[in-house]
Amino acid sequence: MSKIIILMGAPGAGKGTQARLLQERQGLPQISTGDMFRALKEAQTPLAEELRVIMNAGRLVPDELTARVVKERTSQPDCRRGYILDGFPRTTAQTEMLEELAGEQGHQLVAVLVDVPFGMLERRATGRRHCPICGEIYNVHFKPPAVDNTCDLHPDTQLRQRADDNPETMKQRLVTYERDTQPLLDYYDRSGRLHRVDGTRDPKAIYADIERIVMASE
Ligand code: AP5
Ligand code: MG
Repeated sequence: MSKIIILMGAPGAGKGTQARLLQERQGLPQISTGDMFRALKEAQTPLAEELRVIMNAGRLVPDELTARVVKERTSQPDCRRGYILDGFPRTTAQTEMLEELAGEQGHQLVAVLVDVPFGMLERRATGRRHCPICGEIYNVHFKPPAVDNTCDLHPDTQLRQRADDNPETMKQRLVTYERDTQPLLDYYDRSGRLHRVDGTRDPKAIYADIERIVMASE
């Protein structure tokens, strides 16, 4: 049966890193609500300004808008065989919406928690850089590019840092995660759909576990 792979985890846990590997190797599209909102907030519109304020404060975008964005994106033809959700759902209302959506679309849900202790997350977030062209994710401590601050794949392109990857916003993102999103783990656990992987290891070892889980969940 076709699947929706839900990648769960705290800010900086490695959801995006694993989603990109899954996309490349399983041929399923990565649907990252964070990436979609970051693209939306670049416009010169009242909505963009609203998103900038919310995201820079480490709070959540309202459920109604988030649901609309996910519904629209996942109704595209490339999602027919299933897809990877990176950063969604994050609230009980989003979880309920996803149950309904998965039913309508005929996909099975598989949730994977990339488990990393909170104490390791700040260095991951504040050290993160990304390529604005291809989205490749780097880290000045853990995965530096070959040439300082330059994408390995796009040598003319300077890497960027996210506006919310500063210690202050990161603190609030962790509070938001603990309050609104962590309780959802129980929900998926109770229905036997939550798989935990140790996210403190090398990304390749984490990916191997996730791939096994995805293959086994028929
Ligand atoms: P979003 O973009 O989803 O941010 P997040 O959940 O805080 O997660 P991150 O993207 O920071 O971390 P990640 O787990 O993807 O880690 P990554 O692989 O990059 O959301 C941003 C904002 O958008 C939210 O705060 C909210 O405002 C809004 N939003 C988004 N979705 C929403 C929703 N559903 N509802 C409402 N609002 C929503 O890795 C991090 C770093 O660590 C990288 O530098 C990487 O190289 C490194 N790294 C990765 N894996 C490893 C490893 N195994 N070992 C060492 N380093 C590693
Ligand atoms: Mg991410």
